[in-house]
Amino acid sequence: MTTLLGRMQLSSGDITQLPVDAIVNAANRSLLGGGGVDGAIHRAAGPGLLAECRTLGGCETGQAKITRGYRLPARHVIHTVGPIWQGGDGGEPELLAACYRNSLRLAVEYGIRTIAFPAISCGVYGYPLDEAARIAVREVRAFLARDDRVETVYLVCFGGDVREAYERALGQA
Ligand code: AR6
Repeated sequence: MTTLLGRMQLSSGDITQLPVDAIVNAANRSLLGGGGVDGAIHRAAGPGLLAECRTLGGCETGQAKITRGYRLPARHVIHTVGPIWQGGDGGEPELLAACYRNSLRLAVEYGIRTIAFPAISCGVYGYPLDEAARIAVREVRAFLARDDRVETVYLVCFGGDVREAYERALGQA
């Protein structure tokens, strides 16, 4: 199910199935796979993805790196590392915002027109959903307002609680 909001859309379901130019992975600093959406992306992409990730030398929190998509419908995967929630005083909001900004910057660099984000840091990394949704919506909206090279950004809601948090964030903004 997709909700139309112009160039920023909410989309429910499994990000690995989306036929977009790039999907974003909520990775860890090793970039060598893990659980959650990271595990799902590696399973769906196949071993070529891990082999390419091994060449990247990891990734700092808030930064992003790009690979091919291998067996995914998406042509590229942008791997970004969200902050682990530690109460909010450790720079988590700035680091989470940087994940969205740096991923979108890479997308522009690679001519990506359609891109889908999971709710970065909102699973294992424990970021409070409403706060994370506000940051995601703010950053995507600001990016789209100043750059028209990316056509559509999908915010993927895996579960009703994530969708509700995005809907609240969109209502407030
Ligand atoms: N499609 C879309 N969203 C998904 C999917 C999917 N197939 N699977 C999970 N989500 P998480 P994090 C949602 O834990 O919090 C990994 O082990 C999920 O419901 O995947 O950034 C990495 O290797 C949640 O809303 O990522 C890191 O070690 C969101 O994706 C660590 O977890 C993010 O949850 C990163 O933790």
